[in-house]
Amino acid sequence: MSKGLFITKPVQAAPHVDAGEPVEGSLKGEATLKRSLTSTQLVMLGIGAVIGAGIFVLSGHAAANHAGPAVILSFIIAGVACALAGLCYAEFAAMLPVSGSAYSYSYATLGEFVAWFIGWNLVLEYMFAASTVAVGWSGYLNSFLEHFGLALPASLAAAPLNVVDGAIVYTGGLVNLPAVAIIAAISGLCYVGITQSAFVNSIIVAIKIVVIAMFVAFAAKYVQPDNWTPFIPENQGPGKYGIDGVIRGASVVFFAYIGFDAVSTAAGEAKNPQRDMPIGILGSLVICTIIYIIVAAVLTGLLPYTQLGTPKPVATALETYPALSWLKMVVEIGAIAGLSSVILVMLMGQPRIFYTMSQDGLLPKFFAKVHPKFQTPYIGTVIVGVFAAVLAGFLPIGLLGEMVSMGTLLAFATVCIGVLILRSTRPDLPRPFRVPMAVIVCPLGALICLYLFSKPFAEHWKVMTTWTALGLLIYFVYGYRNSKLRKAG
Ligand code: ALA
Repeated sequence: MSKGLFITKPVQAAPHVDAGEPVEGSLKGEATLKRSLTSTQLVMLGIGAVIGAGIFVLSGHAAANHAGPAVILSFIIAGVACALAGLCYAEFAAMLPVSGSAYSYSYATLGEFVAWFIGWNLVLEYMFAASTVAVGWSGYLNSFLEHFGLALPASLAAAPLNVVDGAIVYTGGLVNLPAVAIIAAISGLCYVGITQSAFVNSIIVAIKIVVIAMFVAFAAKYVQPDNWTPFIPENQGPGKYGIDGVIRGASVVFFAYIGFDAVSTAAGEAKNPQRDMPIGILGSLVICTIIYIIVAAVLTGLLPYTQLGTPKPVATALETYPALSWLKMVVEIGAIAGLSSVILVMLMGQPRIFYTMSQDGLLPKFFAKVHPKFQTPYIGTVIVGVFAAVLAGFLPIGLLGEMVSMGTLLAFATVCIGVLILRSTRPDLPRPFRVPMAVIVCPLGALICLYLFSKPFAEHWKVMTTWTALGLLIYFVYGYRNSKLRKAG
C-alpha cells in the first residue's frame, strides 16, 4: 500500500517541440491543447495573474496595520521568497513542459499521494483566488458605478456569509451578484480558446500597466517625504509595526505575488517551452516586484500610513489631492481591468491542472476532454466556473484570501523540495534552466514558504484541515483506484 501511495511518475526529457505540435494528451484521434503562446504572451500572462487585489486592495491594509512606510520592505521580503520559488518553478517548467504545474512536479519527485495533496491545494490557489479577486472586483465596480448613481444595493453586492472568530455568521447580504457575473463572463472566454484568452489578457495588462504608470508619474510630485518618517514605526505588539510588523506585512502582501507560477500551467501550450518558460515566470516576477516597490513608495509618500487602511488605498490617497481627483476614476478603471485579468489567468489555470490529473486517472475522464473546435478543456472550464461563482457569491474575501495564500505556500514549498530531489534521483535529465546554488536556494525557499504558511494556519486550521480531509476522501474513493500509473504497475 505505501509503495503504491508514493509511486512516482517516471520523467522523460521533453522532446523539442515546434509551434502547433502537441506533446501531451496526443492520444490518437483526440483533440489536444494547442501550442501557440509566445514568450511575450507568457510574460503578459504572468503580469496579468500577479498584479491585482494585492496592490490595489491589500497594500494599504499592510501599511496601516503592520508595516507603516516600511511596507516597501514587506514587498521586498515577499518578492525574495517568491523569487526563490520562481527559480525552482522555472527549472521544472522548462524541463517538464506540461499543464499540471506543481502537481506534475510532485508526481515526478515525491509520489502520487503528495501529488494529489498538492493538486488539491492548487484548487485553493487557482479556483479560490479567482473567487477572492472577483469579490474585490465587485467592490471596485460598485464604487465606480457610484459616480453615475448606478451602484447596486448592498444586499446584491455582498456575500451572505462571514466568518467571525471561527464562527459562520449571516451578514444580511443575499449574493455578491457582480462577482458571480464576472466569473461567468470570464469562464465563457476561457471556454472558447487559449489564443483569445491570451489576446484579451494582453490588452487588459496593457491598460493596467498604463494606469499604474500614470499614477506614479502624476502623483510622484505630490509625495511628501515627511510621510516616510519614521520609516519603520515603533513596535506596538505582535505584528504591529517594528520588524515584526514588517514580516507580518510580508505575509499579507505575499498574496500580491501569487500568480507568476500560473505561467507554468500554460507550458503545454507554449511554442518553445524550454526557452520561454523561465522567461515567462522570472520575467513577470521581476517586472511585478519593481512595480510594487515603486507604487508602495509613492502611496506611502502621498498620505500618512495610518490613513491608508481602506479597501481602495490608491483611490483614497488620490482623494486627498483635489488636483489629482481626475486620476481617481482612471485608477478605478485600471483596478477593474487589473482584477479581471487575474481572474482570467486563474480560471484558465485550474481546468488545465484538472486536465493533467484526469489524464493520470486521478480525476474522472471528462476533465481531460478537449473541445473539438476550440481545443480547450471545456468541461473542466464549466465545472470550475460554476464552483468559483458559488464561492465568490457567498463567501467573504478575508477567508477566501487566506485559503489562497495557504494553498499556494504549500505548493511553493513542495516545488522547492522537488527540485533538490530530482537533482539527486535524475541528475541525467537535460535541464534547459538550472536553479543557481540549488543546495541553498531550494531549502531556503521551502523554509520561508512554510514559515509564512504557519501564520494564517494558526487562525484557520479548522477550515484547512476540513479541506484536506475532503481531498483525502476523494483520493481514496476515486483517485487511488483509478490511477493509471498504479494500474500499469
Ligand atoms: N496576485 C494576485 C492579486 O494580487 C492574486 O490579485
